[in-house]
Amino acid sequence: MVVSSSASSSSSSPGAVLITGTTSGVGLNATKALVDRGWTVVTANRDPVRAAAAADALGIPSDRLHHLRIDLGDLESVRVGVETLVSSLGFGLDALVINAAVYKPRLKEPERSPQGYELSMATNHLGHFLLIQLLLPDLQRSQHPSRRVVILGTVTANSKELGGKIPIPAPADLGDLSGFKAGFKAPIAMANAKPFKPGKAYKDSKLCNMITTQELHRRLHDSTGIVFSSLYPGCVADTPLFRNTPKAFQKIFPWFQKNITGGYVSQALAGERVAQVVADPDFAASGVHWSWGNRQTKGGKQFSQELSDKASNPDTAVGVWEESMKLVRLA
Ligand SMILES: NC(=O)c1ccc[n+]([C@@H]2O[C@H](COP(=O)([O-])OP(=O)(O)OC[C@H]3O[C@@H](n4cnc5c(N)ncnc54)[C@H](OP(=O)(O)O)[C@@H]3O)[C@@H](O)[C@H]2O)c1
Repeated sequence: MVVSSSASSSSSSPGAVLITGTTSGVGLNATKALVDRGWTVVTANRDPVRAAAAADALGIPSDRLHHLRIDLGDLESVRVGVETLVSSLGFGLDALVINAAVYKPRLKEPERSPQGYELSMATNHLGHFLLIQLLLPDLQRSQHPSRRVVILGTVTANSKELGGKIPIPAPADLGDLSGFKAGFKAPIAMANAKPFKPGKAYKDSKLCNMITTQELHRRLHDSTGIVFSSLYPGCVADTPLFRNTPKAFQKIFPWFQKNITGGYVSQALAGERVAQVVADPDFAASGVHWSWGNRQTKGGKQFSQELSDKASNPDTAVGVWEESMKLVRLA
């Protein structure tokens, strides 16, 4: 569903960007930061009316926004959403931000997508993987001087960083992809086909996001000129992402990140960082995982964060790509 209309040219800078998951947190604040830079933003959410209300509440001018209905957990909804976008928007996209996510660390049993896949992998990785594949032709047509696909990664899925080594419940690890290869449907709920661990399912899905960025870069950057990058915006400890954690954790975690680790980043700053990676000339390199570090310093500069072997190994990436193509029924 496209709620509003009004387009800007896709051929000049700033351009048009689609962002997934903008009802709150990083996606909502990235929307504001990009509109403030003159971009037109297409939001993709399972509830576009809620997305419009959230944007209104943050004072984002509604004439710069188009609200599209896509439930990333449902591959059929992704397909319908892209068809709606292409048939009704009237202008092309210059950039894509893969941001929406669910984190459900207290589940006892896996939740399933309409296609039968474990829901955090379905939403965070597979729905987005399909969305990217379907929108690539649109991005390729863009005349924008720097067309970009920007994917939200995270520290807990990169074992090169301290946060990625935390063994609770287990580090991100896709194993030999036997869960993918077995079709990912019940009783399979994990990429490595081992017993369900909900916190690890989130980390694995974010590892897939970072692997996808690297593989997109390897396969498509040279031939398309599109810039593919991921980022860790910092620990945005007070977003609704943590709504399914214990109440005490929701109180202590932001305090801990502000006062002990120094890793805390406000939602506004995280949104600003996403906007920089989408729009600023300093972020025109492809294949980079951007970070501002785990301990925030005033005026701290972005840098290219080294990724773990699990995130950068080309053989794993080919496996994730090929198995994901089958799971989203493009192969
Ligand atoms: N918070 C952090 O510290 C942190 C750190 C590193 C990376 N990140 C990454 O940043 C991104 C945004 O996280 P956040 O902290 O801003 O979380 P958030 O406030 O919970 O935002 C998540 C967004 O995803 C949307 N979403 C969830 N399921 C969806 C679905 N099936 N279809 C469409 N949209 C869906 C949510 O919409 P609903 O309102 O419909 O649920 C919401 O708009 C995530 O990729 C996360 O991994 C966050």
